[in-house]
Amino acid sequence: MKGKTVNILVLGGGGREHAIAWALSQSPRCDQLYVAPGNGGTASIAQNVKTLDAEDGEAVLAFAKDHEIGLVVVGPEAPLVVGVADIVRAGGIPVFGPDAQGAQLEGSKTYSKEFMEANGIPTARYASFTNAADARAYCEELGAPLVVKADGLAAGKGVIVAETLEAALDAVDSCFSGTFGEAGSRVVVEEMLTGPECSLLAFVSNGKAFCMAPAQDHKRAYDGDLGPNTGGMGVYSPVPIVTDEEMAAMVSVMETAAAATAQDPFKTDYRGCLYGGFMLTEGPKVLEFNARFGDPETQVVLPRLQGDLVDIMLAVAEGRPEDIELSWSNKWAVSVVLASGGYPGSYEKGKVILGVSEAERLDDVIVFHAGTALNNDGELITAGGRVLNVVALGDTFEEARNRAYEACNLIKFEDMQFRSDIGKRALLGRSAWDA
Ligand code: AMP
Ligand code: GLY
Repeated sequence: MKGKTVNILVLGGGGREHAIAWALSQSPRCDQLYVAPGNGGTASIAQNVKTLDAEDGEAVLAFAKDHEIGLVVVGPEAPLVVGVADIVRAGGIPVFGPDAQGAQLEGSKTYSKEFMEANGIPTARYASFTNAADARAYCEELGAPLVVKADGLAAGKGVIVAETLEAALDAVDSCFSGTFGEAGSRVVVEEMLTGPECSLLAFVSNGKAFCMAPAQDHKRAYDGDLGPNTGGMGVYSPVPIVTDEEMAAMVSVMETAAAATAQDPFKTDYRGCLYGGFMLTEGPKVLEFNARFGDPETQVVLPRLQGDLVDIMLAVAEGRPEDIELSWSNKWAVSVVLASGGYPGSYEKGKVILGVSEAERLDDVIVFHAGTALNNDGELITAGGRVLNVVALGDTFEEARNRAYEACNLIKFEDMQFRSDIGKRALLGRSAWDA
C-alpha cells in the first residue's frame, strides 16, 4: 500500500456507480465508503446515503467535511454540469470529476463541437442554431439522413437520428417547441455517420490522458439492433473489431482533447474521466464527448483494470498525472443488462429478484446493480428500467459471452427482458457492420 487510507464518497446510484464503488472497495486504501444515493447492490459494499442531494454542491461539501471524506467521485453528468466539483474542490476536498467549465464538453453539444473543430478533432459536419427557421434551412441544405441534437443535457434522449428530411424537420420543431426544455433551446444539426461505434474512456488530469480499454455498447432495446434506443442493453471490452490503426487514432484524439483542456481558450480544471464516443468510419470520428465514465461501459472496463483505483483516482483528483499507471487484464469482459419488461417505455417496479447470489457464485461473474432496492423485508426488488448488469470475464470473447448468459439464466424476476445477442456481431467480425 502506497499511501494512507481515505474515506470516499461516490455520487450516483446506477450500475456505473456500483462498478466504481466495487473497484474502489477492492483497494486496501479504501476506508469508509459512502454512495449517494446508491442502490440495492452498493448497499452490500458501502453505506448508502439516500438523503444527500448529489446536485447540491454545498450539501455534498458539508457531508464530506462531516465524514472526513478524502475523495469525492462524481458518477453522473448532472452534478458536474451544475458545478458540484468546483464547490467541493474549493472546499479543499479532492474530487474526481471536472469543473463545470470542463463538463461543458458534455453539457453543451455546441461547445463540444467548437472544441473539436478548434483542435482538429475529426467529427461529423455540423451547424448550431437558436431558431427553427435557420435549423430547418440547414437540414434542407444538407439533406437526409441527418442527426438533430438538443444542445443541453436531456437524460440521453436529446439525439434524434433522422433517416428522412421530414423526420429531421420534425425533430427540429420538437426541440424548439420545448420537448427537451431549456436543453433544446439551441440545436445542433449534423450529418449522419455510419459504422460500428466504440467508446474510449480516459483518465484526464492536468492536460494528460491515460486511455482505458475500449468498449462497445448496444443501444437498441431488442435483438438484431432493433427497437427503440435505450441507455445501453449490453457491452463488452476490449473490442475485437477495432484495428491497431483505429486504436492509435482514438488514443491520439483523447490526448489532443486532454491537452486542449489545459490551454486557452478551453482551459479548465479537468480532473476526471473523459469519455470519447467514436464512430469507426473512414478513420474514427467523435460523435460525442462525455465528462464522466460511461454507463454501461464502466461495468466491463473496471473489472479489467489491474492496479489500485483509489491510487489512480486520487492522482487524477490531486493533479498528479505523473503517478498514474494503468495496466489491463488479458481477459475479455461481456455484460448483459437485465431490464424490466416494457423498458425503455413504461414498466412496473417492485418485482422480487431471485438468483443473484447463485449467479455470483459462478467463477468470474460479477453482478452490478442498476435499478434495484431492498424492500422492508430485506428482499431485493426491481426499482428501475435497467435492473442488473451481469458481467462475466473469460480467456476468450466467446467464453466470456457464454458465461454471461449462463449467469443471466440463473436470475429471475417477473417480466425480465434482455438481449440474447450481446457481442454476436463482434464474433462475426467487421463485415457484420457492412450490411
Ligand atoms: P450522442 O449523445 O451525441 O453520442 O448521441 C447518442 C447516439 O446517437 C450515439 O451513440 C450514436 O448512436 C447516435 N449518433 C450521434 N451522432 C451521430 C451521427 N453524427 N451519426 C450517426 N449516429 C449518431
Ligand atoms: N454508454 C453511453 C453513455 O454512457 O453515455
